[in-house]
Amino acid sequence: MGKNVNFTLLTMLYLFIYIVASPNSTIDKNALLAFKAQITSNPNKILAKNWSQETPFCNWIWIGITCGKRHQRVRGLNLANMGLGGIIAKEIDGLSFLRSLIISENSFYGFFPDEMGNLSQLQEIEM
Ligand SMILES: *[C@@H]1O[C@H](CO)[C@@H](O)[C@H](O)[C@H]1NC(C)=O
Ligand SMILES: *[C@@H]1O[C@H](CO)[C@@H](O)[C@H](O)[C@H]1NC(C)=O
Ligand SMILES: *[C@@H]1O[C@H](CO)[C@@H](O)[C@H](O)[C@H]1NC(C)=O
Repeated sequence: MGKNVNFTLLTMLYLFIYIVASPNSTIDKNALLAFKAQITSNPNKILAKNWSQETPFCNWIWIGITCGKRHQRVRGLNLANMGLGGIIAKEIDGLSFLRSLIISENSFYGFFPDEMGNLSQLQEIEM
C-alpha cells in the first residue's frame, strides 16, 4: 500500500518536473545573465555582445553553452581561457541540469557559492 502511494507520488513528481520545469529555459537564461553580471573583467567583451538577452542561448548561439538534446536546459558551460574575471554568481544554481562547468584559465576569484551544492547533476568542474 505505502509503496504504491510512494510510487504514484514519485511518478507525479517526475511528470511535474518533465512538464513544468524541464522545458522552461527562462530559468537558465536568468541564471546565465546573473552569472554574466558578476563578470567584472571581460577584456574582449565577448560575453557582453554574445550573451544577448534577445537571442536563444542553446548550442553555441551563446558562446560556451551546450544544452540537452530534448530540453533547452544548459548541460555544459565552457568558458575556458576567455580572459574573464570576477566572482561566480550564486544564481548559477538556477542551472539545475548543469553537468559540466569549465572555466579554467580565467581570473575568477573567491569561493564557489554554497548554492552550487544544489546542482545535483554536476559531474565535472575545471577551474
Ligand atoms: C519559467 O520560469 C520563469 C522564471 O522562473 C517563470 O516566470 C515562468 O512563468 C516559467 N514559465 C513556464 C512556462 O513555466
Ligand atoms: C556568439 O558567438 C558564436 C561563436 O562565435 C556565434 O556563432 C553566435 O552567432 C554568436 N551569437 C550571438 C547572439 O551573437
Ligand atoms: C541551495 O543552497 C542554499 C545554500 O546551500 C540553500 O540555502 C538553498 O535552500 C538551496 N536551494 C534549493 C532550491 O535547494
